[in-house]
Amino acid sequence: MPRQLLLGQTLEFTGNPLVEGPDAARHRRHGAVLVDGGKIAAIADRDTLLARYPDVTITDLGQMLISPGFVDAHVHYPQTAMIASWGKRLIDWLNTYTFPEEAKFSSEPYAAEIAELYLDLILAHGTTTAASFCTIHPESLTAFFEAAAARDLRMVAGKTCMDRNAPDNLRDTAQSAYDDSKALIEAWHGRGRLTYAITPRFTPTSTLDQRAALGALWAEHPDCLMQTHLSEQKEEISWVRQLEPDAHDYLHTYERHGLVGPGSIMGHAIHLTEREIGRMAETGTGVAHCPTSNTFIGSGLCRVAALSERGIPVGLGTDTGGGSSFSMLRTMASAYEIAQMQGVALHPSALWWLATAGSAQVLRLDQKIGRLAVGQEADLIAIDLSSTPAIAQRAAQAETFWEQVFPTIMMGDDRAIAGVWIAGEAQHGKSYVNDP
Ligand code: GUN
Ligand code: ZN
Repeated sequence: MPRQLLLGQTLEFTGNPLVEGPDAARHRRHGAVLVDGGKIAAIADRDTLLARYPDVTITDLGQMLISPGFVDAHVHYPQTAMIASWGKRLIDWLNTYTFPEEAKFSSEPYAAEIAELYLDLILAHGTTTAASFCTIHPESLTAFFEAAAARDLRMVAGKTCMDRNAPDNLRDTAQSAYDDSKALIEAWHGRGRLTYAITPRFTPTSTLDQRAALGALWAEHPDCLMQTHLSEQKEEISWVRQLEPDAHDYLHTYERHGLVGPGSIMGHAIHLTEREIGRMAETGTGVAHCPTSNTFIGSGLCRVAALSERGIPVGLGTDTGGGSSFSMLRTMASAYEIAQMQGVALHPSALWWLATAGSAQVLRLDQKIGRLAVGQEADLIAIDLSSTPAIAQRAAQAETFWEQVFPTIMMGDDRAIAGVWIAGEAQHGKSYVNDP
Protein backbone atom coordinates (compact mmCIF):
# COMPACT_ATOMS: atom_id res chain seq x y z
CA MET A 1 0.00 0.00 0.00
CA PRO A 2 1.52 3.36 -0.97
CA ARG A 3 2.06 6.03 1.65
CA GLN A 4 -0.87 8.44 1.77
CA LEU A 5 -1.27 11.90 3.16
CA LEU A 6 -4.74 12.92 4.37
CA LEU A 7 -5.29 16.69 4.58
CA GLY A 8 -8.02 18.20 6.76
CA GLN A 9 -8.74 19.46 10.26
CA THR A 10 -7.19 17.24 12.91
CA LEU A 11 -7.64 16.67 16.62
CA GLU A 12 -5.10 15.18 19.03
CA PHE A 13 -5.44 14.51 22.75
CA THR A 14 -2.66 15.01 25.28
CA GLY A 15 -4.87 13.89 28.16
CA ASN A 16 -8.48 13.28 29.15
CA PRO A 17 -10.54 16.46 28.64
CA LEU A 18 -13.16 15.13 31.07
CA VAL A 19 -10.59 15.54 33.81
CA GLU A 20 -8.13 18.09 32.44
CA GLY A 21 -10.53 20.26 30.42
CA PRO A 22 -10.49 21.24 26.74
CA ASP A 23 -6.79 22.15 26.83
CA ALA A 24 -6.09 18.43 26.68
CA ALA A 25 -7.23 18.58 23.03
CA ARG A 26 -5.08 20.05 20.26
CA HIS A 27 -6.81 21.15 17.07
CA ARG A 28 -5.14 21.95 13.74
CA ARG A 29 -7.29 23.78 11.22
CA HIS A 30 -4.85 22.85 8.41
CA GLY A 31 -3.62 19.48 9.58
CA ALA A 32 -2.27 16.38 7.89
CA VAL A 33 -1.98 12.69 8.73
CA LEU A 34 0.58 10.48 7.02
CA VAL A 35 -0.52 6.84 6.75
CA ASP A 36 2.07 4.16 6.06
CA GLY A 37 1.71 0.39 6.35
CA GLY A 38 -1.74 0.68 7.93
CA LYS A 39 -0.51 2.94 10.73
CA ILE A 40 -0.23 6.64 11.43
CA ALA A 41 3.35 7.58 10.55
CA ALA A 42 3.20 11.34 11.13
CA ILE A 43 0.78 14.06 12.16
CA ALA A 44 1.53 17.75 11.80
CA ASP A 45 0.55 20.88 9.91
CA ARG A 46 -0.37 20.43 6.28
CA ASP A 47 2.48 22.53 4.90
CA THR A 48 5.06 20.75 7.03
CA LEU A 49 4.08 17.27 5.86
CA LEU A 50 3.55 18.35 2.23
CA ALA A 51 7.11 19.66 2.20
CA ARG A 52 8.52 16.62 4.00
CA TYR A 53 6.74 14.00 1.83
CA PRO A 54 6.51 15.40 -1.71
CA ASP A 55 5.97 12.02 -3.40
CA VAL A 56 3.02 10.50 -1.51
CA THR A 57 -0.62 10.01 -2.57
CA ILE A 58 -2.63 12.99 -1.34
CA THR A 59 -6.30 13.01 -0.30
CA ASP A 60 -7.41 16.57 0.34
CA LEU A 61 -10.46 16.50 2.65
CA GLY A 62 -10.74 20.30 2.80
CA GLN A 63 -12.42 21.43 6.03
CA MET A 64 -13.48 17.95 7.04
CA LEU A 65 -12.36 16.66 10.42
CA ILE A 66 -10.04 13.66 10.33
CA SER A 67 -10.77 11.59 13.44
CA PRO A 68 -9.96 8.15 14.74
CA GLY A 69 -12.89 5.84 13.97
CA PHE A 70 -15.43 5.72 16.78
CA VAL A 71 -15.03 2.99 19.40
CA ASP A 72 -18.27 1.55 20.78
CA ALA A 73 -17.50 0.15 24.23
CA HIS A 74 -20.75 -1.80 24.71
CA VAL A 75 -23.13 -3.26 22.16
CA HIS A 76 -25.16 -6.39 21.41
CA TYR A 77 -24.84 -7.08 17.67
CA PRO A 78 -27.51 -9.84 17.88
CA GLN A 79 -30.04 -7.15 18.87
CA THR A 80 -29.65 -5.32 15.54
CA ALA A 81 -33.00 -6.55 14.19
CA MET A 82 -35.01 -5.64 17.32
CA ILE A 83 -33.64 -2.14 17.98
CA ALA A 84 -36.38 0.38 18.83
CA SER A 85 -38.82 -2.10 20.40
CA TRP A 86 -41.55 -0.28 22.26
CA GLY A 87 -42.75 0.13 25.77
CA LYS A 88 -40.86 -2.06 28.27
CA ARG A 89 -38.43 -1.73 31.12
CA LEU A 90 -35.27 -3.83 31.33
CA ILE A 91 -36.42 -7.24 32.55
CA ASP A 92 -39.67 -7.25 30.51
CA TRP A 93 -37.77 -5.91 27.52
CA LEU A 94 -35.28 -8.81 27.78
CA ASN A 95 -38.04 -11.42 28.09
CA THR A 96 -40.36 -9.95 25.47
CA TYR A 97 -38.03 -8.83 22.72
CA THR A 98 -34.42 -9.77 23.37
CA PHE A 99 -34.46 -13.44 24.29
CA PRO A 100 -36.74 -14.49 21.37
CA GLU A 101 -34.44 -12.65 18.93
CA GLU A 102 -31.27 -14.07 20.50
CA ALA A 103 -32.71 -17.61 20.22
CA LYS A 104 -32.51 -17.26 16.43
CA PHE A 105 -28.70 -17.23 16.64
CA SER A 106 -28.59 -21.01 17.04
CA SER A 107 -28.62 -20.79 13.24
CA GLU A 108 -25.15 -19.89 11.99
CA PRO A 109 -26.47 -18.56 8.63
CA TYR A 110 -28.77 -16.17 10.53
CA ALA A 111 -25.90 -15.10 12.79
CA ALA A 112 -23.72 -14.51 9.72
CA GLU A 113 -26.43 -12.45 8.02
CA ILE A 114 -26.92 -10.19 11.06
CA ALA A 115 -23.16 -9.90 11.66
CA GLU A 116 -22.67 -8.61 8.09
CA LEU A 117 -25.63 -6.25 8.37
CA TYR A 118 -24.40 -4.93 11.72
CA LEU A 119 -20.86 -4.30 10.43
CA ASP A 120 -22.22 -2.52 7.33
CA LEU A 121 -24.34 -0.30 9.56
CA ILE A 122 -21.65 0.65 12.05
CA LEU A 123 -19.03 1.36 9.38
CA ALA A 124 -21.50 3.67 7.66
CA HIS A 125 -21.85 5.41 11.05
CA GLY A 126 -18.08 5.74 11.47
CA THR A 127 -17.59 3.07 14.13
CA THR A 128 -14.48 1.04 13.41
CA THR A 129 -14.21 -0.93 16.69
CA ALA A 130 -16.98 -2.32 18.89
CA ALA A 131 -17.08 -4.54 21.97
CA SER A 132 -20.06 -6.77 21.36
CA PHE A 133 -21.97 -9.31 23.37
CA CYS A 134 -22.96 -12.31 21.23
CA THR A 135 -25.61 -14.87 22.25
CA ILE A 136 -25.08 -18.07 24.24
CA HIS A 137 -24.42 -19.90 20.96
CA PRO A 138 -20.71 -20.25 20.09
CA GLU A 139 -21.84 -19.93 16.43
CA SER A 140 -22.84 -16.32 17.10
CA LEU A 141 -19.26 -15.48 18.09
CA THR A 142 -17.77 -17.40 15.18
CA ALA A 143 -20.05 -15.61 12.70
CA PHE A 144 -19.16 -12.21 14.12
CA PHE A 145 -15.40 -12.77 14.20
CA GLU A 146 -15.38 -14.34 10.72
CA ALA A 147 -17.20 -11.30 9.32
CA ALA A 148 -14.87 -8.90 11.19
CA ALA A 149 -11.71 -10.76 10.14
CA ALA A 150 -12.77 -10.72 6.48
CA ARG A 151 -12.88 -6.91 6.72
CA ASP A 152 -9.67 -6.67 8.80
CA LEU A 153 -11.57 -4.89 11.59
CA ARG A 154 -10.34 -4.51 15.15
CA MET A 155 -13.24 -6.00 17.12
CA VAL A 156 -13.94 -7.30 20.61
CA ALA A 157 -16.61 -9.93 21.34
CA GLY A 158 -17.58 -12.79 23.60
CA LYS A 159 -20.07 -15.61 23.80
CA THR A 160 -22.74 -14.50 26.30
CA CYS A 161 -23.08 -16.88 29.26
CA MET A 162 -26.40 -17.48 31.12
CA ASP A 163 -27.22 -20.43 33.36
CA ARG A 164 -30.32 -19.18 35.17
CA ASN A 165 -33.39 -16.96 34.71
CA ALA A 166 -33.38 -17.36 30.93
CA PRO A 167 -35.45 -19.57 28.61
CA ASP A 168 -34.32 -23.22 28.35
CA ASN A 169 -32.99 -22.75 24.82
CA LEU A 170 -30.81 -19.82 25.97
CA ARG A 171 -29.14 -21.47 28.94
CA ASP A 172 -25.69 -22.97 29.21
CA THR A 173 -24.11 -24.28 32.45
CA ALA A 174 -21.13 -23.19 34.51
CA GLN A 175 -19.03 -25.96 32.94
CA SER A 176 -20.20 -25.51 29.33
CA ALA A 177 -19.82 -21.73 29.57
CA TYR A 178 -16.22 -22.27 30.72
CA ASP A 179 -15.49 -24.95 28.09
CA ASP A 180 -17.11 -23.10 25.17
CA SER A 181 -15.54 -19.75 26.09
CA LYS A 182 -12.13 -21.38 26.48
CA ALA A 183 -12.41 -23.07 23.08
CA LEU A 184 -13.41 -19.76 21.49
CA ILE A 185 -10.50 -17.96 23.17
CA GLU A 186 -8.11 -20.57 21.81
CA ALA A 187 -9.63 -20.29 18.33
CA TRP A 188 -9.91 -16.51 18.11
CA HIS A 189 -8.22 -14.38 20.78
CA GLY A 190 -5.34 -12.40 19.34
CA ARG A 191 -5.96 -13.70 15.83
CA GLY A 192 -5.54 -10.76 13.44
CA ARG A 193 -7.17 -7.79 15.11
CA LEU A 194 -9.62 -9.70 17.32
CA THR A 195 -9.87 -9.65 21.12
CA TYR A 196 -11.98 -12.06 23.15
CA ALA A 197 -14.08 -10.74 26.04
CA ILE A 198 -15.29 -13.24 28.64
CA THR A 199 -19.00 -12.42 28.89
CA PRO A 200 -21.27 -13.35 31.81
CA ARG A 201 -24.46 -11.47 30.81
CA PHE A 202 -25.19 -10.21 34.35
CA THR A 203 -25.63 -11.58 37.84
CA PRO A 204 -29.37 -12.32 37.48
CA THR A 205 -28.57 -14.77 34.65
CA SER A 206 -25.23 -16.17 35.88
CA THR A 207 -25.08 -18.34 39.02
CA LEU A 208 -22.27 -18.12 41.52
CA ASP A 209 -20.79 -21.25 39.97
CA GLN A 210 -20.82 -19.72 36.51
CA ARG A 211 -19.23 -16.46 37.64
CA ALA A 212 -16.60 -18.45 39.57
CA ALA A 213 -15.83 -20.55 36.45
CA LEU A 214 -15.55 -17.45 34.27
CA GLY A 215 -13.40 -15.69 36.89
CA ALA A 216 -11.06 -18.69 36.81
CA LEU A 217 -11.02 -18.60 33.02
CA TRP A 218 -10.10 -14.89 33.06
CA ALA A 219 -7.27 -15.62 35.52
CA GLU A 220 -5.98 -18.22 33.02
CA HIS A 221 -6.27 -15.73 30.12
CA PRO A 222 -5.63 -12.32 31.70
CA ASP A 223 -5.05 -10.56 28.39
CA CYS A 224 -8.68 -11.21 27.41
CA LEU A 225 -11.27 -8.64 28.44
CA MET A 226 -14.34 -9.24 30.63
CA GLN A 227 -17.67 -7.55 29.89
CA THR A 228 -20.95 -7.59 31.78
CA HIS A 229 -23.75 -5.32 33.08
CA LEU A 230 -23.85 -3.49 36.42
CA SER A 231 -26.57 -1.51 38.23
CA GLU A 232 -28.62 -0.46 35.22
CA GLN A 233 -32.11 -0.36 36.76
CA LYS A 234 -33.31 -0.20 40.35
CA GLU A 235 -35.57 -3.28 39.92
CA GLU A 236 -32.54 -5.22 38.67
CA ILE A 237 -30.50 -4.18 41.74
CA SER A 238 -33.30 -5.32 44.10
CA TRP A 239 -33.39 -8.64 42.25
CA VAL A 240 -29.63 -9.08 42.70
CA ARG A 241 -30.00 -8.29 46.42
CA GLN A 242 -32.72 -10.97 46.68
CA LEU A 243 -30.65 -13.52 44.75
CA GLU A 244 -27.47 -12.91 46.75
CA PRO A 245 -28.28 -11.31 50.10
CA ASP A 246 -24.79 -12.10 51.43
CA ALA A 247 -23.07 -9.84 48.84
CA HIS A 248 -22.10 -6.30 49.99
CA ASP A 249 -23.67 -4.90 46.82
CA TYR A 250 -24.04 -5.64 43.09
CA LEU A 251 -20.35 -5.03 42.26
CA HIS A 252 -19.36 -7.52 44.97
CA THR A 253 -21.21 -10.30 43.09
CA TYR A 254 -18.54 -9.88 40.38
CA GLU A 255 -15.67 -8.84 42.60
CA ARG A 256 -15.73 -12.00 44.71
CA HIS A 257 -15.12 -14.04 41.56
CA GLY A 258 -12.22 -11.97 40.25
CA LEU A 259 -14.33 -10.20 37.62
CA VAL A 260 -13.16 -6.64 38.35
CA GLY A 261 -9.93 -4.85 37.47
CA PRO A 262 -8.30 -3.40 34.35
CA GLY A 263 -10.01 -4.86 31.28
CA SER A 264 -13.29 -5.40 33.12
CA ILE A 265 -16.02 -3.41 31.35
CA MET A 266 -19.18 -2.70 33.29
CA GLY A 267 -22.06 -1.65 31.05
CA HIS A 268 -24.29 1.15 32.46
CA ALA A 269 -23.07 1.46 36.11
CA ILE A 270 -25.74 4.00 36.98
CA HIS A 271 -27.00 3.44 40.52
CA LEU A 272 -23.70 2.90 42.33
CA THR A 273 -22.97 3.02 46.04
CA GLU A 274 -19.96 4.86 47.43
CA ARG A 275 -18.29 1.50 48.15
CA GLU A 276 -18.78 0.39 44.57
CA ILE A 277 -17.33 3.62 43.17
CA GLY A 278 -14.36 3.38 45.52
CA ARG A 279 -13.63 -0.24 44.59
CA MET A 280 -13.98 0.44 40.86
CA ALA A 281 -11.51 3.30 41.17
CA GLU A 282 -9.06 1.24 43.26
CA THR A 283 -9.20 -1.74 40.91
CA GLY A 284 -9.25 0.17 37.59
CA THR A 285 -12.58 -1.37 36.57
CA GLY A 286 -14.00 0.37 33.47
CA VAL A 287 -17.45 1.74 32.72
CA ALA A 288 -19.26 1.78 29.37
CA HIS A 289 -21.72 4.66 29.56
CA CYS A 290 -24.77 3.87 27.39
CA PRO A 291 -26.85 7.05 27.39
CA THR A 292 -29.40 6.38 24.60
CA SER A 293 -30.21 3.06 26.24
CA ASN A 294 -30.48 4.63 29.68
CA THR A 295 -33.16 7.04 28.50
CA PHE A 296 -34.85 4.59 26.09
CA ILE A 297 -35.36 1.85 28.73
CA GLY A 298 -35.81 4.45 31.47
CA SER A 299 -32.81 3.34 33.53
CA GLY A 300 -31.38 6.56 34.99
CA LEU A 301 -28.55 9.06 34.77
CA CYS A 302 -24.95 7.78 34.88
CA ARG A 303 -22.54 10.20 36.61
CA VAL A 304 -19.89 10.21 33.91
CA ALA A 305 -18.02 13.31 35.02
CA ALA A 306 -17.93 12.25 38.69
CA LEU A 307 -16.77 8.71 37.83
CA SER A 308 -14.03 10.07 35.57
CA GLU A 309 -12.88 12.50 38.25
CA ARG A 310 -12.55 9.56 40.64
CA GLY A 311 -10.16 7.97 38.12
CA ILE A 312 -12.51 5.29 36.77
CA PRO A 313 -11.91 4.67 33.05
CA VAL A 314 -15.10 5.61 31.18
CA GLY A 315 -16.04 5.03 27.55
CA LEU A 316 -19.18 5.33 25.49
CA GLY A 317 -21.47 2.57 24.20
CA THR A 318 -24.51 2.52 21.94
CA ASP A 319 -25.88 -0.59 23.71
CA THR A 320 -27.73 -1.40 20.48
CA GLY A 321 -30.57 -2.64 20.69
CA GLY A 322 -31.38 -1.41 24.23
CA GLY A 323 -29.83 1.76 22.90
CA SER A 324 -31.85 3.46 20.21
CA SER A 325 -29.14 4.25 17.65
CA PHE A 326 -26.12 2.85 15.81
CA SER A 327 -24.58 6.33 15.75
CA MET A 328 -21.83 7.34 18.17
CA LEU A 329 -22.64 10.97 17.26
CA ARG A 330 -26.20 10.44 18.49
CA THR A 331 -24.75 8.67 21.54
CA MET A 332 -22.49 11.68 22.29
CA ALA A 333 -25.54 13.95 22.04
CA SER A 334 -27.38 11.77 24.50
CA ALA A 335 -24.38 11.78 26.89
CA TYR A 336 -24.47 15.57 26.72
CA GLU A 337 -28.19 15.64 27.53
CA ILE A 338 -27.85 13.21 30.44
CA ALA A 339 -25.03 15.29 31.93
CA GLN A 340 -27.12 18.45 31.49
CA MET A 341 -29.91 16.77 33.50
CA GLN A 342 -27.35 16.58 36.33
CA GLY A 343 -26.19 20.17 35.98
CA VAL A 344 -22.99 19.31 34.09
CA ALA A 345 -22.24 20.62 30.58
CA LEU A 346 -19.78 18.18 28.99
CA HIS A 347 -17.45 20.02 26.64
CA PRO A 348 -17.41 18.76 23.00
CA SER A 349 -13.78 17.72 23.51
CA ALA A 350 -14.88 15.45 26.39
CA LEU A 351 -17.67 13.95 24.28
CA TRP A 352 -15.28 13.27 21.39
CA TRP A 353 -12.75 11.77 23.76
CA LEU A 354 -15.35 9.44 25.28
CA ALA A 355 -16.31 8.12 21.83
CA THR A 356 -12.71 7.49 20.75
CA ALA A 357 -9.79 7.46 23.22
CA GLY A 358 -11.96 6.91 26.31
CA SER A 359 -13.61 3.81 24.89
CA ALA A 360 -10.25 2.55 23.60
CA GLN A 361 -8.83 2.90 27.11
CA VAL A 362 -11.71 0.96 28.65
CA LEU A 363 -11.06 -1.81 26.10
CA ARG A 364 -7.30 -1.71 26.92
CA LEU A 365 -6.68 -0.91 23.24
CA ASP A 366 -5.46 2.66 23.79
CA GLN A 367 -1.95 1.84 22.58
CA LYS A 368 -3.44 0.71 19.25
CA ILE A 369 -6.55 2.79 18.44
CA GLY A 370 -8.62 5.77 19.54
CA ARG A 371 -6.21 8.68 18.96
CA LEU A 372 -4.47 10.48 16.12
CA ALA A 373 -0.92 9.71 17.18
CA VAL A 374 2.16 8.22 15.58
CA GLY A 375 2.10 4.42 15.77
CA GLN A 376 -1.66 4.12 16.15
CA GLU A 377 -3.49 1.93 13.65
CA ALA A 378 -4.99 3.98 10.82
CA ASP A 379 -8.68 3.26 11.47
CA LEU A 380 -9.81 6.73 10.52
CA ILE A 381 -12.94 8.62 9.55
CA ALA A 382 -13.57 11.91 7.77
CA ILE A 383 -16.37 13.95 9.29
CA ASP A 384 -18.32 16.44 7.20
CA LEU A 385 -19.12 19.22 9.69
CA SER A 386 -21.86 20.59 7.38
CA SER A 387 -23.59 17.35 6.43
CA THR A 388 -27.20 18.60 6.40
CA PRO A 389 -28.72 22.03 5.73
CA ALA A 390 -29.70 22.35 9.39
CA ILE A 391 -26.17 21.58 10.61
CA ALA A 392 -24.49 23.62 7.86
CA GLN A 393 -26.38 26.82 8.66
CA ARG A 394 -25.46 26.53 12.34
CA ALA A 395 -21.82 25.58 11.70
CA ALA A 396 -21.51 28.59 9.38
CA GLN A 397 -22.06 30.86 12.42
CA ALA A 398 -19.26 29.22 14.40
CA GLU A 399 -16.42 31.36 15.67
CA THR A 400 -14.38 28.53 17.14
CA PHE A 401 -13.60 24.96 16.14
CA TRP A 402 -15.67 23.52 18.99
CA GLU A 403 -18.62 25.66 17.98
CA GLN A 404 -18.24 24.24 14.49
CA VAL A 405 -18.16 20.62 15.78
CA PHE A 406 -20.97 20.80 18.33
CA PRO A 407 -23.90 20.99 15.82
CA THR A 408 -22.61 17.76 14.25
CA ILE A 409 -22.43 16.13 17.70
CA MET A 410 -25.97 17.20 18.52
CA MET A 411 -27.64 16.74 15.11
CA GLY A 412 -25.29 14.53 13.07
CA ASP A 413 -25.78 10.95 11.91
CA ASP A 414 -24.37 8.67 9.21
CA ARG A 415 -24.64 11.49 6.67
CA ALA A 416 -21.73 13.18 8.47
CA ILE A 417 -19.41 10.23 7.82
CA ALA A 418 -17.75 11.13 4.52
CA GLY A 419 -14.99 8.53 4.54
CA VAL A 420 -13.75 5.49 6.45
CA TRP A 421 -10.25 3.96 6.40
CA ILE A 422 -9.56 0.55 7.94
CA ALA A 423 -5.87 -0.03 8.68
CA GLY A 424 -5.18 2.66 6.10
CA GLU A 425 -7.44 1.16 3.39
CA ALA A 426 -10.14 3.51 2.14
CA GLN A 427 -13.60 1.92 2.38
CA HIS A 428 -16.31 2.72 -0.08
CA GLY A 429 -18.10 5.35 1.95
CA LYS A 430 -21.68 4.62 2.80
CA SER A 431 -22.68 3.20 -0.54
CA TYR A 432 -21.84 -0.37 0.37
CA VAL A 433 -24.65 -0.47 2.90
CA ASN A 434 -27.17 -0.66 0.05
CA ASP A 435 -25.05 -2.81 -2.24
CA PRO A 436 -26.58 -6.19 -3.08
N1 GUN B 1 -28.78 -6.42 31.09
C1 GUN B 1 -28.65 -7.73 30.82
N2 GUN B 1 -28.75 -7.96 29.50
C2 GUN B 1 -28.95 -6.78 28.91
C3 GUN B 1 -29.13 -6.38 27.56
O1 GUN B 1 -29.13 -7.17 26.62
N3 GUN B 1 -29.32 -5.05 27.37
C4 GUN B 1 -29.31 -4.15 28.38
N4 GUN B 1 -29.49 -2.87 28.11
N5 GUN B 1 -29.16 -4.51 29.65
C5 GUN B 1 -28.98 -5.81 29.92
ZN1 ZN C 1 -25.85 -4.34 27.22
